[in-house]
Amino acid sequence: MVRIAWGITGCGDKIEDIVKTMVELKEEYPSLEVHVYYSQNARMVLSLYNLLDLLKENFEKVLPEANANAPFLPGKLQTGKYDAFLVAPVTANSTAKIAYGIADTLITNSVAQGAKARVPILMYPPDNRLGEIDTIIPDGRTIKLHLRDVDYKNVATIRQMEEIDVLDSVSEIKPALKDLFEKLENKDNGE
Ligand SMILES: Cc1cc2nc3c(=O)[nH]c(=O)nc-3n(C[C@H](O)[C@H](O)[C@H](O)COP(=O)(O)O)c2cc1C
Repeated sequence: MVRIAWGITGCGDKIEDIVKTMVELKEEYPSLEVHVYYSQNARMVLSLYNLLDLLKENFEKVLPEANANAPFLPGKLQTGKYDAFLVAPVTANSTAKIAYGIADTLITNSVAQGAKARVPILMYPPDNRLGEIDTIIPDGRTIKLHLRDVDYKNVATIRQMEEIDVLDSVSEIKPALKDLFEKLENKDNGE
C-alpha cells in the first residue's frame, strides 16, 4: 500500500485535468491510497468548477484547511504517515510562499515541515513559464492570460530546492508517481 497526501490550492488553471488524473490514478493503482487536503481558497475554486463532490465521491478523506496546522498534515508527514506529498495545482500565491520559506497555510506549512523530514515532495505550479496561456474559467469559456515574470522566477527558485521536485505539466504527474512507486518498492526490497 502506497499512501500519499495530495494538496490542492485555489488554482483554477488545470484543476479539471488534475482531478481527472487523480480519479484515473485511483483506478489504475488499487493499492494507492490518496488523502486530499485543500486550502481555504481551494474550497471556492473547487465548488465553482463543480469538483468538490466528485472528489468526495472518489476519495475517503477530503479534508479542508482550518489553519496552518489543522488538520495536522505537517505532523503526519513528519511521522511517516505518508510516503509522499504531492501538491497540484499550486497557485502563484502558494508558490511564492514556498519559494521564500513562508509556512502560514496548511499547504505551505506542510511543504516546509515535510521537507525537513525528507518526505518526497512533488509540486505542479501551472505558472511555470513565460508567455500566454489558455485557461478554462468556471463557466466553461477559455480565456487568455499573460504569465508574470515574478511567478516564473519563484518556480525557478523552488527548482533549486533539493527537497522538492517541480513538475511542468499535468501529464508529468502519472510518470512521476510511477517512479516514486518503483523507488518505494525497491526500498522495501532492500535494494
Ligand atoms: C475561480 C478562481 C480561479 C483561480 N485560479 C487561479 C489560478 O489559476 N492561479 C493562481 O495562481 N491563482 C488563482 N486564483 C487565485 C487564488 O485562489 C488566490 O491567489 C488565493 O489567495 C490562493 O490561496 P492558496 O494558495 O492558499 O490556495 C483563482 C481564484 C478563483 C476564485
